[in-house]
Amino acid sequence: MRGTQTINEKGHLVIGGVDTTQLVEKYGTPLYVYDVDLINQNIQRFKEAFEPYAVNWQIAYASKAFSTLAMIQLVKEHELSLDVVSGGELYTALKAGFPASRIHFHGNNKSVEEIQMAIRAGIGAFVVDNFYELAMLEEEAQKEEIVVNVLLRLTPGVEAHTHAYVTTGQEDSKFGFTLSNGDVEKAIQLALNAPHIHLLGVHSHIGSQIFDAEGFVLATTRILARFLDWKDTFGYTPKVLNVGGGFGIKYTEEDDPLPLESQLRPVLETILAFCQEHSLQTPEVWIEPGRSIVGEAGTTLYKLGSSKTIPGVRKYVSVDGGMTDNIRPSLYGAKYEAVIANRADEPNVETVSVAGKCCESGDMLIWDLPLPTPAAGDVLAVFCTGAYGYSMANNYNRIGRPAVIFVENEKDYLVVERETYEDLIKKDLLMPEMVKQRS
Ligand code: LLP
Repeated sequence: MRGTQTINEKGHLVIGGVDTTQLVEKYGTPLYVYDVDLINQNIQRFKEAFEPYAVNWQIAYASKAFSTLAMIQLVKEHELSLDVVSGGELYTALKAGFPASRIHFHGNNKSVEEIQMAIRAGIGAFVVDNFYELAMLEEEAQKEEIVVNVLLRLTPGVEAHTHAYVTTGQEDSKFGFTLSNGDVEKAIQLALNAPHIHLLGVHSHIGSQIFDAEGFVLATTRILARFLDWKDTFGYTPKVLNVGGGFGIKYTEEDDPLPLESQLRPVLETILAFCQEHSLQTPEVWIEPGRSIVGEAGTTLYKLGSSKTIPGVRKYVSVDGGMTDNIRPSLYGAKYEAVIANRADEPNVETVSVAGKCCESGDMLIWDLPLPTPAAGDVLAVFCTGAYGYSMANNYNRIGRPAVIFVENEKDYLVVERETYEDLIKKDLLMPEMVKQRS
């Protein structure tokens, strides 16, 4: 059980004080349910991790993990900053009333229209990914006669994923300026000479679902070492060091990430110690957590339907959603845990595999899940679906995206309506010629 999850006297799973079976009756399935209290707690933990240190900081929520108007409102309430990666994420943020000055714009192929939109909105910083963008940004800022804040995204040659991290001299990535081959220095020189660019600092993001601090510390150490070179060569010291996101969460019992604050503290200690040792001005430290803020706060509710038992092989049970609302199992082999929400107090007696309803064999949500004997009509609650579930949802097989509900203090709030059949064809146009020929 995570966050506010409990089981009530009827044996039903309760989130935010609300019986999940009642949510299903009210809103149907599949349904994304977010525990607002847990989102608040996660944000608070990141803030508290910074507090003991004599360092200025910004926490930018990575909105790619889950972006809707209500979520952005919540982030705004906490006075965080916001990371966006597209015109669409920027538009959502602005429509939710998020202060533009706290928005950071990422992406390895921003279009000229997106750059113009962001400049006109007056966003806080562009995280510039490549030389093409740097030139385009200078040109567009010049046209608008303003100076824009820039962080340069560096690839430090450290790639981290859960417990494993790899270090390479020359990182093979589509993102950022390579640290090892002089590209970063070229970019710094260009940015410092560009009259409409204010080079605020540097950024790196080393991966996702990271369980410890080693990779972060290594990347930070590599970048800090260059601060000394840049001071000598350009007389320039970055004011901001953004160490990215990627803090891991506990999807299943197998996952054992360090607590959020323990992932962050060694990074802060490394930065402070290095700057003190080398008499460098301590940079402002920015982070960009996405998954760690919303992942565990999301639960998806499905109705069970058909099942198929292949003796000696396995039993499949199907839900009324699948890779359309959670593509992570089929895309990454991601693992999840689940319970029968309307019988959450019953012991597990068999092992089943949970299939989605899409026309694709790979549409499996969970392999080998221990459950009480499942029956058609039961509600399956899949945990930890709050990050990259709704945000990566799609309409394969013309299946509509589920509704999204926030629950808090025994109240439920509809924050995204379920897509209807009408929504699915809203942008389709009939071909006039064909209509004519047939009539
Ligand atoms: N900052 C940058 C520059 C990023 O590229 C990302 C994620 C984040 C922050 C946030 O990372 P987080 O804290 O959420 O791990 N679709 C994949 C994850 C892709 C992450 C892409 N970048 C998934 O479902 O696991």
